Amino acid sequence: MSIQTELPENDFRPSAGRLVESLRDTGYSREAAFADILDNAIAANATKIAIELQYIYGEFRVTITDNGDGMSEEELKNAMRYGSDRRPNPKSLGKFGMGLKTASTAFCRRLVVLTQKNGVCSGRAWDLDRIISTDRWQLETPSSGDYFDDHEELSDFSESGGTMVIWENIDRLIKQGSERQIRKQIKNIGEELSTELSAVFFKFLVSGNVYITMKVGDTSMVELKGWDPLCTDLITTDGIRSRLLKEKTIPVDLGERTASFSIKGSVIPSQNELNFEERKFVRYSLDNQGFYIYREGRLIWHDGWPHRMYKKESKVKLLV
Ligand SMILES: Nc1ncnc2c1ncn2[C@@H]1O[C@H](COP(=O)(O)OP(=O)(O)OP(=O)(O)O)[C@@H](O)[C@H]1O
Ligand SMILES: [Mg+2]
Repeated sequence: MSIQTELPENDFRPSAGRLVESLRDTGYSREAAFADILDNAIAANATKIAIELQYIYGEFRVTITDNGDGMSEEELKNAMRYGSDRRPNPKSLGKFGMGLKTASTAFCRRLVVLTQKNGVCSGRAWDLDRIISTDRWQLETPSSGDYFDDHEELSDFSESGGTMVIWENIDRLIKQGSERQIRKQIKNIGEELSTELSAVFFKFLVSGNVYITMKVGDTSMVELKGWDPLCTDLITTDGIRSRLLKEKTIPVDLGERTASFSIKGSVIPSQNELNFEERKFVRYSLDNQGFYIYREGRLIWHDGWPHRMYKKESKVKLLV
């Protein structure tokens, strides 16, 4: 007998197996998925976040560890629920109660979350294959022995509090191949993620309040430096700077209250005023011109010019 037919006739509960598999395809880009996990860490007041792309015993694994508030066991269970409780702070980066799960399972088939708060460690896991085979939302409690090293790493990383998100059975970040090919892919992902996340979290990184590190395979850990699309601090070897346009704050009437946003721009030096290194620093490319939109300090949009406003062409290519 199928599980659905056991339910009362008016209880059209979604099929866990079908839903969890289709939620993998909601269109997460790689950097958006990592950024969602990092948003959660920042919302939990983390000041240090360590991303590790590991390749151990032929298994590719991702861990993202933070020294934020951590969670009690009850809070962890709520965190793992698809549709977690609404966050109390409306300014929080998280809105839907889904990101931790959907961002992770867009790329992996097993999500493990370890956390600690007030000296108590807890862990829970979603395993897609288990959800599919049972067609039930059966949240696993992994035995602490299975994740002993990770628990140790978490408590070394953060004295009190802290959370470690682990992606296992990753089937979508890399393609199958020889060990050498897999290591190469992991290295490339590390490089691309560093570039992308240094732009997404630029405002946090330059504030000095949040440190993000990246460790790829056996290479040493690297600290991400924020990347400013306006290149505010750029001074070329010839002493040329970006031309900063005046910042403007624009109020928006929302009926019962007003909000505001501010806008600023810059014209970066032209290509022939920059040497090779400076061009790299500026990320000189037609694709990088246009608008960058931040919400609560986090880059949320960077796809050039709003539709129909401008075309990416050489006469506007220096304007950011
Ligand atoms: N690193 C973390 N540290 C502490 N709590 C966390 C962490 N990650 C997630 N949580 C908790 O889990 C809950 C669910 O996170 P999730 O990302 O799924 O949803 P959200 O952030 O509320 O909304 P969104 O879907 O927009 O990301 C959060 O509201 C938070 O309470
Ligand atoms: Mg979130």
